[in-house]
Amino acid sequence: MSTPAVPRQGIAGEAIRIDSHLAGSAERSLADDVLDGLTRPFKELPPKHFYDARGAELFDQICELPEYYPTRCERTILAERAEELAELTGAVELVELGSGTAAKTRVLLDALSAAGTLERYVPVDVTETMVRDCAEALTSEYPGLRVHGVIGDFERHLQHLPQAIGPRIIAFLGGTIGNFPPGSRRRLLRGIARMLGGDDHLLMGTDLVKDPRVLVAAYDDAQGVTAEFNRNVLLVLNRELRADFDPQDFDHVALFDTEHEWIEMRLRARREHTVLVRDLDLAVHFDEGEELRTEISAKFTPARLEGDLAAAGLDLASWLTDPDELFALTLSRRSSL
Ligand code: SAH
Ligand code: TRP
Repeated sequence: MSTPAVPRQGIAGEAIRIDSHLAGSAERSLADDVLDGLTRPFKELPPKHFYDARGAELFDQICELPEYYPTRCERTILAERAEELAELTGAVELVELGSGTAAKTRVLLDALSAAGTLERYVPVDVTETMVRDCAEALTSEYPGLRVHGVIGDFERHLQHLPQAIGPRIIAFLGGTIGNFPPGSRRRLLRGIARMLGGDDHLLMGTDLVKDPRVLVAAYDDAQGVTAEFNRNVLLVLNRELRADFDPQDFDHVALFDTEHEWIEMRLRARREHTVLVRDLDLAVHFDEGEELRTEISAKFTPARLEGDLAAAGLDLASWLTDPDELFALTLSRRSSL
């Protein structure tokens, strides 16, 4: 379902348009994911349910933590290279998948605006408030910018993105691609590749393999913000599906799986107990010490990343990294068919 927002700017054309593709299907998708994920022998939840209002706030705090280097590194790379990216892509619009508060995006918007090409920004996020708030903020920060926000799931709704109005950058920042296991990751990348036209570029941020101590600290900070973020997903289930989780029944666990080269975030039951998910008529039993996997965050090597891009039908055009090579931004184009 599409619900265009009321135009904010009369005759000059609308500065903001918002489409929502969730309307009711968000609750269904949460219910399906919970039914599927909590009835498995190894319990698991997909990551998109972390980001309610509180989750989004906690995520913003994570980005400022001393241990969480990815945001700082990605911002450094963007600041160093945005001008070059603007020139190379000639982009008139920036489409951003999982845009959140678009904090780092401003660096790109500044460069496109300085190059004189910027016309439109298209934030895509499952969290409605993020899309609406960021549309408001950016249209006032960038006079003349049009924002066409899309509230939707980038695994399911890419076909609903607005038609390109010229060369585009599709930005997928923050290492979010790493939160998908290999199968869905490639499916998602293929979906993104298919929507790239000949003049478009994908700009994707990925975290790189490094000392596991550095990695684990980034997902298990001293202040416990990440622990609270992890447990917050249980409060989402309590509210949306009338479950009765007590977050204090679970410990936050972050570990690096050296075989898969990904971080796993888990919630470990402190005691044996049963949780009721009333809306699903579901009783979920936890043994003492039993773990629920809430997130993976894959770490890449250049070879693995190029493999994933190639499998999706993407050619690497530039590889941008920070001085310590902790994080990478890649610019790619659709392979010629
Ligand atoms: N790009 C920002 C935010 C990253 S957090 C940054 O780099 O800091 C991940 C964001 O992706 C959140 O805002 C979350 O709501 C969104 N997200 C996660 N899964 C999604 C999905 N399947 N479809 C659309 N948005 C999703
Ligand atoms: N895309 C981010 C990452 O993988 C998301 C993230 C950061 C995250 N910290 C987290 C997800 C803690 C869950 C828990 O780095």
